[in-house]
Amino acid sequence: MQQVNLGIIGGGTVGGGVFQAIQRNGALISSRLGVRLHVAKMAVRNIHKPRPVKIPVALLTTDWAGVVNDPQVTLIVELIGGTTTARELVLNALKLGKPVVTANKALLSAHGEELFEAAQNSRTNLYYEASVAGGIPIIKVLREGLIGNRITRLYGIVNGTCNYILTRMKAEGADFADVLAQAQRLGYAEAQPSLDIDGHDAAHKIGILASLAHGFWVGPKQIYVEGIRMGIVKKAGTVAGTRRKPNGCAPVQVSVYPTLVPNAHVLASVNDVFNAIYVRGDVVGDTLYYGRGAGQDATASAVLSDLADAALDLKCGTKSRIPPFVPHEREGAVLPIDEVVARYYVRLNVIDKPGTLAKIAAIFGRSKIGISSVIQPEGHEGESVPLILMIHDATNAAITRALATIGALSVVKAPPAMIRVENFE
Ligand code: NAP
Ligand code: HSE
Repeated sequence: MQQVNLGIIGGGTVGGGVFQAIQRNGALISSRLGVRLHVAKMAVRNIHKPRPVKIPVALLTTDWAGVVNDPQVTLIVELIGGTTTARELVLNALKLGKPVVTANKALLSAHGEELFEAAQNSRTNLYYEASVAGGIPIIKVLREGLIGNRITRLYGIVNGTCNYILTRMKAEGADFADVLAQAQRLGYAEAQPSLDIDGHDAAHKIGILASLAHGFWVGPKQIYVEGIRMGIVKKAGTVAGTRRKPNGCAPVQVSVYPTLVPNAHVLASVNDVFNAIYVRGDVVGDTLYYGRGAGQDATASAVLSDLADAALDLKCGTKSRIPPFVPHEREGAVLPIDEVVARYYVRLNVIDKPGTLAKIAAIFGRSKIGISSVIQPEGHEGESVPLILMIHDATNAAITRALATIGALSVVKAPPAMIRVENFE
């Protein structure tokens, strides 16, 4: 049976998981593919570090360049993270004509276009199923399963760490810092966890998905991002989304922010480390994908899927059968956040006295922003009380201006808190 020799760079959470999964299911994969996956070498930073997954020391090296340049190694797997050494090693491998598998969404977000071009120039390929939504095969869905569709909506919970934190805070009233530390112990969080909690990891992922869905490259600077540090998001999920107008015209919305979703919507019941992605295509209609979004085994499963594709492409001599990214939308553009229209939940802390609500309603009225409902728990006159308002569709620019004016009123005792409400129409 033909054998593909793997050079795996990185033996941490994901690298260890991939090694373990090949030990466990290597024979099954070979019988399905007709190709044997053989781990020839693994590069790590520290050979002697204790590892939860036992990797024979004879396989380990600290010399990643030696692995990439080894003529016996025919397929490179980048699992070190970061954007510096990872970029260098992926470029080196591609220039040698070796296909590369990566789980590194930060790298793709920052340097995707350069890496895809390098793959194309060297007539080889770059595979990245594990870069988005852990074990959910969403890259294959967009590039192959839904290839006959124009994508008009794509929403998702795409960061396992944030969803895990929000779920535990809501269910148990757990402390943010404690749950984040647990997410790190479980191998869910990035080496730099601010990438998770400040929304950047979700932005890297939605940039990749939006690019595939809409056919033009969406870089990180084009994506509006809010994270989950704000206390008000305790009861909401962070949703990354991209949508196009029904007539298919650009620009498209691409953003990441905490969002209230209706209890009846399937996304409302996606808990813990699970991710879910909802995709609407003009031919297929609505589709939904669900699974573990982070962690060793889920991510290893996605890497195995790429290894299988890469091994088959090597076997059949079809390395560029499905190129990593094919731009097809020349006029593609992203809608500025100021122009994005949404509904909002607004929470104010106000002095309970006659005229307060009228002042606030007048400001919304002058801004041509409609209020759909108001809740004010009973308080004592003269004391401060919460005032909750649900706001009809308004642009981000309009609500931001109105809330700045409201926040400056003497009867408003704390900066207004606002969270968007998504109804998935
Ligand atoms: P990790 O546990 O920190 O592992 C990183 C590995 O890379 C370690 O084995 C480390 O060696 C090795 N390494 C770092 N710099 C190196 C260098 N210069 N030369 C050789 N080896 C080097 O990280 P991870 O969680 O596995 O994540 C890896 C990648 O997968 C990242 O891009 C991440 O975003 C992505 N990803 C992670 C998950 C997840 O759930 N964790 C899910 C999807 C995608 P030592 O072990 O000796 O320190
Ligand atoms: N840190 C990422 C997450 C890993 O929590 O979703 C999976 O990409």
